[in-house]
Amino acid sequence: MIVLGIESTAHTLGIGVVNEEGRILADCKSVYVPEVGGIHPREAAEHHQKQLHVVLQDVFSETGVSLTEVKGIAYAQGPGLPPALRIGAVMARTLAKSLGVPLLGVNHCVAHIEQARYFCKAEKPLVVYLSGGNTQITMLEARRYRIFGETLDIALGNMLDVFARAANLTHPGGPKIEQLAKQAKGEYQELPYTVKGMDLAFSGLLTAAKRLLTNGSPLETICYSLQETSFAMVAEVVERALAHTGREEVIVTGGVAANARLREMLALVAEEQSAKFASVPPKYAGDNGSMIAYNGLLMLHAKTTTPLSKSKVRPKWRLDQIDIPWGE
Ligand code: ATP
Ligand code: FE2
Repeated sequence: MIVLGIESTAHTLGIGVVNEEGRILADCKSVYVPEVGGIHPREAAEHHQKQLHVVLQDVFSETGVSLTEVKGIAYAQGPGLPPALRIGAVMARTLAKSLGVPLLGVNHCVAHIEQARYFCKAEKPLVVYLSGGNTQITMLEARRYRIFGETLDIALGNMLDVFARAANLTHPGGPKIEQLAKQAKGEYQELPYTVKGMDLAFSGLLTAAKRLLTNGSPLETICYSLQETSFAMVAEVVERALAHTGREEVIVTGGVAANARLREMLALVAEEQSAKFASVPPKYAGDNGSMIAYNGLLMLHAKTTTPLSKSKVRPKWRLDQIDIPWGE
């Protein structure tokens, strides 16, 4: 028995397959990279449409499995860019209908978190979810992901991407900023640090970093300072959330979890609070199809499938709106 999952919320068209135990049998993708600027929703959708058959072909040549073994079709139902989401949804409905198997509408945020929980073997972790669209410190409690802290303006990954664009670096900016920060030799320039209770804000930091850029500060120094400041803000909230909740493990997921300096800082905070720390493997930090397949598998086991009448995409679907039947 295998489950196939389709990710198409933003830049990545990903298709993955997991077996009954959740082990990844295939994880293939094609990533849309805008020529200039940020993501254009319609261009992303066109990219996904064009690449669908290519990625699906890769999946089947990689796994050697056949469509007859597929027992569920999962797709990222939201949140995300409507035109991009629709491509995955249409494909999922078509496949599920023609194979006569259940359709599984997955929340993209829950999928990042559950895949991290699977890899980290974490039972009841505090979850740090950092990506291009999300910045949330959350944990599962009585069938819901409760949000402890989140960004009040833009997401951490988005802040990095926008700064990178201002510095003429290509999209996505996170990995380039990480490389440049390593060359800074520890020079730090003061930047605004904004933590409000358990929440965070990054737009003041972004504006100040852009100002340093126009004032001619070395790019490496700004990248280093940007990382140190924003990651320290996240670390502070994580520290407080650990102290409040008494949770004994912390895991990090989402595209920004690929950043080694971030993981180092979070590991330190966890250690000080006598908590275990683990990260999703960097390869699976960003958007991927196997996380959708894995979440679909959890839904299938919990017998929560998605009828066609409720399969419309949900561009603004929030993490804390979802019932998690496996989260008793
Ligand atoms: P979501 O819907 O979960 O918000 P997303 O569309 O932002 O997803 P992800 O692939 O989860 O997609 O995350 C992408 C983000 O991760 C981008 O902002 C990118 O710059 C950031 N990122 C990727 N690698 C790194 C890195 N090494 N350091 C910092 N940020 C990174
Ligand atoms: Fe994502």
